[in-house]
Amino acid sequence: MDILSITGLRARYGHVEALHSVDLRLGEGELVTVLGPNGAGKSTLMRAIMGVCSNSGQVQFRGKDTPRNNPVALATDGLILVPEGRGVLGPMTVEENLEIGGYLLGDRNAEFERRLAEVLEMFPRLRERLSQDAGSLSGGEQQMLAVGRALMAGPKLLLLDEPSLGLAPRVIGEILETLRELNARGLSILLVEQKAPLALKIANRAYFLSLGKIVSEFDPKEVSSHEELSKHYLS
Ligand SMILES: Nc1ncnc2c1ncn2[C@@H]1O[C@H](COP(=O)(O)OP(=O)(O)O)[C@@H](O)[C@H]1O
Ligand SMILES: [Mg+2]
Repeated sequence: MDILSITGLRARYGHVEALHSVDLRLGEGELVTVLGPNGAGKSTLMRAIMGVCSNSGQVQFRGKDTPRNNPVALATDGLILVPEGRGVLGPMTVEENLEIGGYLLGDRNAEFERRLAEVLEMFPRLRERLSQDAGSLSGGEQQMLAVGRALMAGPKLLLLDEPSLGLAPRVIGEILETLRELNARGLSILLVEQKAPLALKIANRAYFLSLGKIVSEFDPKEVSSHEELSKHYLS
């Protein structure tokens, strides 16, 4: 069964439709990327999946229709979004940010400590900075914290909105390598990106989003034969 199944999803801002009947699926254990230029509707797609913008159509997560305006219920079921711009809480410490990620567990119980140990093993740089304010981290470290905080919630499907934004290529490489490893451990991932070559390196399958429409679905290994992508994205 698909972990995520989207049919005829539309989203609008006022009278302007920003997503036009998007169909998309993600199988259990897949790492799928949605590529598209600035303004294509990538963040809108993420918000529509989370049910936090004006939308219509069907979004099913683990075989069930998703609720509107209830990200907490979605998080409880295992659907977590790492938003564009990371959304870490600057005046709070790294550890406090991670605690927020794990808040559905209630107290800092054994499961919390197990997840924390796993996150800090994956991102040793966060361990060194646990008591530092999140706002004082570098962009790359903040992105690691954003992913770490999402992992604290125990996701089954992780949505990532342009994690590479504003980061140096080496740091992007590190983060994508972590995503690849998380996927290898069984986590399903939907990665939305502008930086196509990097995302295509780790994806099992890819969609191309343009002006609010999915215009193609393809195998990342065959991307050199895809004219539009080659022209716009592989330079
Ligand atoms: N809050 C908003 N109000 C009005 N229009 C918006 C809003 N957010 C995004 N849009 C418009 O929706 C379209 C898609 O935007 P977005 O989803 O942010 O694209 P992407 O993430 O691919 O850059 C763009 O035309 C953008 O201007
Ligand atoms: Mg965006």
